[in-house]
Amino acid sequence: MAEVVRVGLGERAYDIVIGSGVRERAAELQGRLFPVTDSRVEELYGSWLKSCFGAAERFVFPAGEGSKTFLTVEEICRAAARARLDRKACFVAVGGGVTGDMTGFAAAIYMRGVDFIQIPTTLLAMVDSSVGGKTGVDLPEGKNLIGAFHQPKLVLIDPDFLNSLPEREIRCGLAEIIKTGVILDAELFAALEREPASLTGHLDPCRYTKIIRRCCELKAGVVEADEREAGLRAILNYGHTFGHAVEALSGFSISHGEGVAIGMTAAAELAVARGSLTRADAERQRRLLEAVGLPVKLPREYSVPAVLEAMTRDKKNAGGRIRVVLPEGIGRAGVVTPEVPELAAALEAIHA
Ligand code: GLY
Repeated sequence: MAEVVRVGLGERAYDIVIGSGVRERAAELQGRLFPVTDSRVEELYGSWLKSCFGAAERFVFPAGEGSKTFLTVEEICRAAARARLDRKACFVAVGGGVTGDMTGFAAAIYMRGVDFIQIPTTLLAMVDSSVGGKTGVDLPEGKNLIGAFHQPKLVLIDPDFLNSLPEREIRCGLAEIIKTGVILDAELFAALEREPASLTGHLDPCRYTKIIRRCCELKAGVVEADEREAGLRAILNYGHTFGHAVEALSGFSISHGEGVAIGMTAAAELAVARGSLTRADAERQRRLLEAVGLPVKLPREYSVPAVLEAMTRDKKNAGGRIRVVLPEGIGRAGVVTPEVPELAAALEAIHA
């Protein structure tokens, strides 16, 4: 039985359908579909894609963040034009965050906007990036600097895809799940604390379906309240300002989820220093991150001034001040603009 979470956005409302086997519903979709996927998903699921989308031309790009460029978006749009797709076409993103963000962006601008559907295949995309309509590409100057808000028409989440996902990718998704618990739902956080070891290794599909559903419900609530990030939605960036800086400094050898885990640990230190989080709750977060195999230390090779400098380039800063999301206990969060010495002290506290 599939579960459905509705994202209530008026004329842009859509369903997120979650359950084992829901990917097969893609075969029932009507209209001119244009599947977009990466080389890794094509290798693993090429025959399923063929059986599902039949003769429809599909666009396959090389897997990896390096493909998330304007050039690939141009290639997607040119392939759509060669296939004579018109305004009634529907792009279908089958893959992780890179595929979803980029296909959504191509759909936002092709013929000034066509429909698109998300079929996420990674845990991170299932619990975060496939929901909410943020689309875009990277520039050499920074990640996600170009983009558009463009909501999908439908999201099909099939946890069976997780069986082929490398452990490191599962941990990446877990960073976003733990983030969601810390900022929005103390009960979700407590549920994750029970048997964290069973969140990796052999995955329990029922447990994961429940977790994914809860994360989608929580994210849908935030997106409904603040679709274009005028305020509340910014809390979804918990751990991301510190995290993006560390990711960028590492040349992306530290993954997004690992960066977010380090970033959440630094942000929790800052929250403890400011009195919005108890030391005991900061320790709960650190223990949970560690229990699922995520890093909680800033690696020695990255100096605090270098991380601070990278943080000044974050696109979520405002008026020259670095904006950081801080927990207010477990289950709530807010945005602050701390002084640089406070940020430096938080980073020093987690330096290896
Ligand atoms: N991933 C953060 C957001 O969708 O707002």
